[in-house]
Amino acid sequence: MNDGTPALDPTAFYVPPRGDLSWMEERSVSEPLFTPPNPGGAQDATQIQAGGLPAIDTGALASQFNDIVLRDYISWEVEYQLVKRLGSGGQGIVFLADRRGAFGVSFRLALKFFQPANYPDVDAYREEMARLARLSMKLARLQQDHLVDVYNVLEYRGIQTLVMEWVDGYDLRFLLTPGALEYVRKNSDHDTWQYVNDVIVTNSGPQLRLKPGVAIAILRDCLSAVAALHREDILHADIKPANIMVKRTGNCKIVDFGSAFVADEPPHRPTWTPRYAAVEVLEGSVPTPASDLASLGYVLMEMLSGQPCFSEFTDIGDYAGLVAAKRQLPDTLYSQLPADVVRNTTLIDLLQQLIAPEPSNRFASAEAADMSEEGGAAEFQRQLVRGDLASEYENDLRLWLEELA
Ligand SMILES: Nc1ncnc2c1ncn2[C@@H]1O[C@H](COP(=O)(O)OP(=O)(O)O)[C@@H](O)[C@H]1O
Ligand SMILES: [Mg+2]
Repeated sequence: MNDGTPALDPTAFYVPPRGDLSWMEERSVSEPLFTPPNPGGAQDATQIQAGGLPAIDTGALASQFNDIVLRDYISWEVEYQLVKRLGSGGQGIVFLADRRGAFGVSFRLALKFFQPANYPDVDAYREEMARLARLSMKLARLQQDHLVDVYNVLEYRGIQTLVMEWVDGYDLRFLLTPGALEYVRKNSDHDTWQYVNDVIVTNSGPQLRLKPGVAIAILRDCLSAVAALHREDILHADIKPANIMVKRTGNCKIVDFGSAFVADEPPHRPTWTPRYAAVEVLEGSVPTPASDLASLGYVLMEMLSGQPCFSEFTDIGDYAGLVAAKRQLPDTLYSQLPADVVRNTTLIDLLQQLIAPEPSNRFASAEAADMSEEGGAAEFQRQLVRGDLASEYENDLRLWLEELA
């Protein structure tokens, strides 16, 4: 038989032509499953059919199956039940939703509906939504453990809808409110309360203060997420506690890509949160990787100090005052931090290299902020280990969130 196909030599390696991925498909075909003959009815020999299965007519079903697997395209209607509101911010409302499946099952996820009210007209909304849709699909391919997983972008009655992973946990803004600790005090036994209060968090100011080890564990998750974004030339451009989710597992995930953009496709109408934006962004520059690092620095400052960052500037009218306060932060941070943080030069180096007003004085990258031997976040954790002061922070966070059920 010679149809032009070279005969395969079974002893030779098969080298697929470049770009031919069919050999991978082959690898994913597993061995057939064994079906035991008529389980539960084995005593009654008359019930056992040839082949071990009852003789029912599956012919029509089999032809449906064959029809489906031979298609290139398939479509069906999807129904979501909106279970409850998870949160909202400047750009939209996020719902916990159940996507209905067969046999009464449902798959839990989150839906974000993008608010059109901030746009001058429908065209401006659609243009921005198209940009966000392209960005979302880029994010969907990243699959980074500390970025929320994006599943799809839909348009429903003209409203852009992001379908994404439901992150089971709380955002950091909520976790830092005194109520989040008060709840634990009221609802937990004495030992758990003591542990949460000694190891994880203290209530020493207007907001909760996280113990440095816990704060750094959160920061490191965020840095790895931001590093993955920056490797793809994506800027988050709105890092703040409300956009950092702490999962019940103790892991963190960054959410909310409403201000994010790919470096070569900046938004026509950039948005940011003044208190958490880098100085240069407040002064009109386009955000860069260094600006995301500054925002993370402000978040770290907030976690370590027990005070909301630049809270005296919640009224965004005083822009000049806010810029000045950010420029002075390298000097003023000492008076805002507790003594144990100020004494730790690694922590201070880390903070200073994140919040430096000049972007060129910040860490060169998110990876450097994590791994640098001079003030990197990992170095601080190594220090805790050397001093036998390290704890299992992920587990500690999990314990805390368990008490918040
Ligand atoms: N995937 C998610 N799973 C669980 N909660 C979420 C999710 N995404 C957002 N949230 C919650 O909803 C809030 C608002 O969502 P966000 O995307 O930040 O909207 P906005 O762009 O309007 O700020 C977040 O601060 C967070 O508390
Ligand atoms: Mg948000």
